[in-house]
Amino acid sequence: MKRNKLHSLLVFACVACALAAVGGGFSDSSHGLTDAEAGYIRQRQLLYYRDEFGDRGENVTVDPSLSFPNPRLRAAYIALQAWKQAILSDPRNLTGDWVGWNVCGYTGVFCARALDDPGVQVVAGIDLNHGDIAGYLPEELGLLTDLALFHINSNRFCGTVPQKFDKLKLLFELDLSNNRFAGKFPRVVLGLPALKFLDIRYNEFEGKVPRELFDKDLDAIFINHNRFSFDLPDNLGNSPVSVIVLANNRFRGCVPASLGNMSKTLNEIILMNNGLRSCLPPEIGLLKALTVLDVSYNELVGPLPESLAGLRSLEQLNVAHNLFSGKIPEDICAGIRRPQELLAGASGAEVGEPV
Ligand SMILES: *[C@@H]1O[C@H](CO)[C@@H](O)[C@H](O)[C@H]1NC(C)=O
Ligand SMILES: *[C@@H]1O[C@H](CO)[C@@H](O)[C@H](O)[C@H]1NC(C)=O
Ligand SMILES: *[C@@H]1O[C@H](CO)[C@@H](O)[C@H](O)[C@H]1NC(C)=O
Repeated sequence: MKRNKLHSLLVFACVACALAAVGGGFSDSSHGLTDAEAGYIRQRQLLYYRDEFGDRGENVTVDPSLSFPNPRLRAAYIALQAWKQAILSDPRNLTGDWVGWNVCGYTGVFCARALDDPGVQVVAGIDLNHGDIAGYLPEELGLLTDLALFHINSNRFCGTVPQKFDKLKLLFELDLSNNRFAGKFPRVVLGLPALKFLDIRYNEFEGKVPRELFDKDLDAIFINHNRFSFDLPDNLGNSPVSVIVLANNRFRGCVPASLGNMSKTLNEIILMNNGLRSCLPPEIGLLKALTVLDVSYNELVGPLPESLAGLRSLEQLNVAHNLFSGKIPEDICAGIRRPQELLAGASGAEVGEPV
């Protein structure tokens, strides 16, 4: 038993590392906000809530002496200058060179030919990952209508996702992870027609996750480590994602049987630490492409379904810290390619030593 526990911890550590690796690692060098900064953010937020949506207090005027290669880059200039005004701490000085007409030369800003007009350069990507920047996202970012990638992980952005993000019809990857965004699930993302990769993990979003999220044609959903709280909806299985990580929220309820509908696409599902109370549905055995299954730290009951033995692609299985009872189906161990990754143990299950 003791050894199992130790083993549990080890595998748990690996899963944690893997998660961190997926996230690109998070800087822990985040400086605390000073009182003045916090006060300023609060005031800006008040402005935001006072306006319906739109102006949060930025005031970009374009110097008439600036000339831009095309109107879209002029619009991008306005968006980026408004954003610069909404930034109150930039310890790495990443936006220090956000000056002048040449937005394609700004740090973290990437230009490409427009999809609908290869003759013009447009802003197609923003990457300010690990910038440790404090501030918020102004509505003017909706002017970046050619944006395909928006990556700002590991900063200190707070507030909400601007409503005008609904203008970003080409946005393909949205990574807001490891920031200080709060409030309800940013519904605006549900209306982004090109979105495939949604990563809002490690923020302070709360409340329900709209069930429409699982009807959306996404490839990856990372919403772990927030404060979401709701019952997993029965349409979860409609999602065509290959990776879904819901860990460390306060989801409740059952693991829906519709999960079995994800058999063609699902590679990884992590439902760890969510207060799930049900048994694991046998349909889980239909997930032939699954390589990672983690339902640890919930209150799942009943036996492990025999069908788990059918998961021939599985490399990591973590069912520890639940209320499972009975024996582990023998074939599970036979099925796992790297059996050292098998993790059961804890709380009542009769477990043999890991193979
Ligand atoms: C915006 O800035 C311009 C120039 O700095 C100033 O004249 C104008 O009054 C400002 N408008 C607002 C609403 O603050
Ligand atoms: C920030 O970067 C700009 C432009 O690269 C530079 O002019 C400025 O001196 C830098 N500021 C600090 C505090 O390093
Ligand atoms: C999805 O799963 C549910 C529950 O297992 C099932 O009733 C439904 O027919 C499935 N839908 C599709 C499209 O496979």
